[in-house]
Amino acid sequence: MLYSQKDKKELESCLMQLEKEYAEVKKKGLKLDMSRGKPSTSQLSLSADILSVVNKDADCFSDNGTDCRNYGLLEGLPKARQLFADILGVKAENVLIGGASSLNLMYDEVARAMMFGVAGGEKPWSAQGKVKFLCPVPGYDRHFAICELMGIEMLNVPMTKDGPDMDMIEKLVSEDESIKGIWCVPKYANPDGTVYSDETVRRFAALRPKAKDFRIFWDNAYAVHDLYEEVKLANLFELSKEYGNENLPIMFTSTSKITYAGAGLAAMAASAANIEKTKKSMGIQTIGYDKINQLRHVRYFPDADAVKEHMKKHAEILRPKFKTVISAFEKELAPLGIAKWSNPKGGYFISLDVEKGCAKRVYQLAKEAGVTLTPAGAPYPYGVDKNDENLRIAPSFPPVSELKEAVDVLCLCVKIAAAEKYLGKL
Ligand SMILES: Cc1ncc(COP(=O)(O)O)c(C=O)c1O
Repeated sequence: MLYSQKDKKELESCLMQLEKEYAEVKKKGLKLDMSRGKPSTSQLSLSADILSVVNKDADCFSDNGTDCRNYGLLEGLPKARQLFADILGVKAENVLIGGASSLNLMYDEVARAMMFGVAGGEKPWSAQGKVKFLCPVPGYDRHFAICELMGIEMLNVPMTKDGPDMDMIEKLVSEDESIKGIWCVPKYANPDGTVYSDETVRRFAALRPKAKDFRIFWDNAYAVHDLYEEVKLANLFELSKEYGNENLPIMFTSTSKITYAGAGLAAMAASAANIEKTKKSMGIQTIGYDKINQLRHVRYFPDADAVKEHMKKHAEILRPKFKTVISAFEKELAPLGIAKWSNPKGGYFISLDVEKGCAKRVYQLAKEAGVTLTPAGAPYPYGVDKNDENLRIAPSFPPVSELKEAVDVLCLCVKIAAAEKYLGKL
């Protein structure tokens, strides 16, 4: 029966029963973790052979004879640029290869814009007074941390089933010149798994920002991370050209969740003017990134199809984990009407909305019972979820057996917090 249909007495006896169960769970001294959005050990082992494709001096030369042990090729190996170009739907000349982390590239792009301005921009962002970014919420906490560190004011934009609220975005960017950017995770958004609709991508391509130095930070971290059949995202880069907006998008991705989260390859893609501007300061930062790792990746993945084949093996490992969480929510929470959740078809996260005002309480209850969750509020700028309702669930790392135990505890905590709320005890 729905909690909302229970009377006070029923809810009170319900809560007493739940508290008894909770006390039993606490006695078990569990140590479980649903907070880590990283590949499991068995996923990392899928790429084991990449470690042996370059293992002696003679292996260190690329197809065109580049000695990958030496300095040079700031932009990255041509084949690595082509591989990412095919993943992102752009040309190789529009791609720059970085180190192991796309977050690092994003941080650098924002820092560069703050210090030196963007291509065609007259002044550095930081020399123009207040700088603001639009932040679709819930979103990726580390994007927001970059803005917070750099003193960029963040404005929340709610997510819809098709992506962020485009009416709001179009209005805000057309009116406010201090809005210089927006964070987007267009495919399997972190944390709700939304894939931006074709219409949303087109509206991004057609934006008419008041700030001529506005940029879309298009973090396509989950470009090939389908759990089921391949889902296609519209090509923002091509569409932007149609609207004379080719300098608007700056795209990012990496192989963190393809090969190794700690030793993969990251890339960014943008217009010729944007790439030129970036290279100017990147070339002062470094003489070049790790080309041996680039060589490993292009030997291991001759083309984008090889990447897609490899991703099917990841999906096989991940699917049962997502199913474990979703099935528990359906069985334990759905009949009570006290939560809503996303059921993503790819990516790394599930977004759980509990009763308003209960997320922090659920986090605390779970923690005390030995289950670590991502702190409530993390997917929001400044860590503030004004409804205190959202929790980000990361099912990838623990084995299914542990995950099952952890999600059962989580459901218990969601029920307790909701009962407390209905009884006015929160
Ligand atoms: C949306 C998003 N972007 C970027 C990253 C980190 O990417 P990288 O490992 O390439 O720095 C993550 C990791 O969870 C992510 O969820």
